[in-house]
Amino acid sequence: MSAKVAVFVSGGGTNLQAIIDAKANGLLPHADIELVASVKRGIYALERAENAGISVCVCERGEGEKKADVEKKLLDAVKAHNIDLIVLAGFLTILSPDFINAFCGSIINIHPSLIPSFCGKGFYGLKVHEAALERGVKVTGATVHFVNGIPDGGDIIAQKPVAVLPDDTPEMLQKRVMSEAEHIMLPECVEKIAKEICERRSE
Ligand code: GRF
Repeated sequence: MSAKVAVFVSGGGTNLQAIIDAKANGLLPHADIELVASVKRGIYALERAENAGISVCVCERGEGEKKADVEKKLLDAVKAHNIDLIVLAGFLTILSPDFINAFCGSIINIHPSLIPSFCGKGFYGLKVHEAALERGVKVTGATVHFVNGIPDGGDIIAQKPVAVLPDDTPEMLQKRVMSEAEHIMLPECVEKIAKEICERRSE
């Protein structure tokens, strides 16, 4: 038995690729990657999904449409694929409480710092690593957490530390946090949560 997973993306999709690779390597026995969704076309993550033979859904905001219309498209796609778990892997759109409640407890996100440091509104992409370097922390890392109504505020599932090196630039630090923490921890968390979903189902 396995749980159906949707991955929401906005960019390069290296975290998506880590999940795809983990599945190909037999590390996700309880998870099937059913759907990759985004709110814009032309991003490399979608190409990665297509290369792996995964269904892709681009839920764009049409003329005169509101954010709620886009979320409705995302929700329809997720429902059409009977998704059990949504993974936000570099997904930059903040989901509304309505969307989160519709999928209560089954959305996880990866954030490139050790929450509660350098997280919340405005902390995304390189900004997170710039802030860590500016503050002079010697250890940073990544966090996988459940999504609730507060940006980066849901229960923490796992964290992995990464050393900050003396000559790090934000780009270097971002790359190391990805390879040493995010790409290892996210597939592990997907398997953990998927396994729990399967166990709950068979109770
Ligand atoms: C990652 O650093 C992730 O933690 C953050 O956005 C970035 C996405 O990278 N939320 P990618 O698209 O997975 O390469």
